[in-house]
Amino acid sequence: MRRRSQLVPWKVAGRVSERMPTGDDVVRETGWVFNNATGDDLTLAEFVATGDDEVPAYLETFGLRGDHTQQQRLVEIGAGIGRMTCAFTREFGSVVACDLDQGFLERCHETVGRFGKPDRLRTLEVANGRTLDLPPNSADLAFSYITLQHCEEDDALELASEAVRVVEPGGKIALNFRGPGFGDRIVVPAGAVVRSMYRVPKVGDWLSRQRPVTRLAWQASRLHPDQVIGPLSPQLTDIQVWKNPSSRLSAVDAAMRTFEGVNPHHWWLVAEVT
Ligand SMILES: C[S@@+](CC[C@H](N)C(=O)[O-])C[C@H]1O[C@@H](n2cnc3c(N)ncnc32)[C@H](O)[C@@H]1O
Repeated sequence: MRRRSQLVPWKVAGRVSERMPTGDDVVRETGWVFNNATGDDLTLAEFVATGDDEVPAYLETFGLRGDHTQQQRLVEIGAGIGRMTCAFTREFGSVVACDLDQGFLERCHETVGRFGKPDRLRTLEVANGRTLDLPPNSADLAFSYITLQHCEEDDALELASEAVRVVEPGGKIALNFRGPGFGDRIVVPAGAVVRSMYRVPKVGDWLSRQRPVTRLAWQASRLHPDQVIGPLSPQLTDIQVWKNPSSRLSAVDAAMRTFEGVNPHHWWLVAEVT
């Protein structure tokens, strides 16, 4: 099967990271792929510390942390090299870290081995970028951060529906999206053009190290809350959309909530599965 173009920049970055001798080198070479930080003296420890700050903030704000969290099962969609996964393995009884790139998942194991609880971790490759090879009702929470915006619209919607499928009734989903915005009519098609260049041998490796180009290549989809919530609403209750206080986004079938920690271009769908 010919790989769909929105998957290619990640696969190339994964290949580059596989060649790095240590996790610290990976963070210096490709860490900005995950948290936008650059610098020759970055370390894996600092990288993980950013996840250690963000994970409790989101769990607390979205009401996802409770007495039973230590017994719960989390599925993380788009785990990368484990920036947030380390904290998740400390919070939850078990974690399935899913990513389309197997190289990132191997690094994720290493990262969690150093900074998290590896006995609670399992990794899962999302080979087709849209389905999770997990049984229904096998998780209490499905979480995804800065991943669905990098998938094309139908893949992002399919992964959202997969998140609902794998969560047991009474469990929750917390999924992060990027909403429509000014400039999308130029940026999204330009991203598609750049992505096609990643297929060219050598050029792809070089491009994957160029931050501005890569950031453009990632721009695969923008979704409005109504597009995501519409098809899923029969299976959800207590539907909340979390956004930055400066955002004008609204949604038909959801309670709007604000949190300063949400990027002004992003929004989160937080809901209970029925
Ligand atoms: C910006 S990184 C975010 C990683 C992590 N959530 C974090 O915050 O550090 C996006 C991740 O999503 C993965 N990804 C992109 N498209 C995907 C898809 N269709 N299915 C699964 N993972 C995907 C990439 O390989 C990458 O590791």
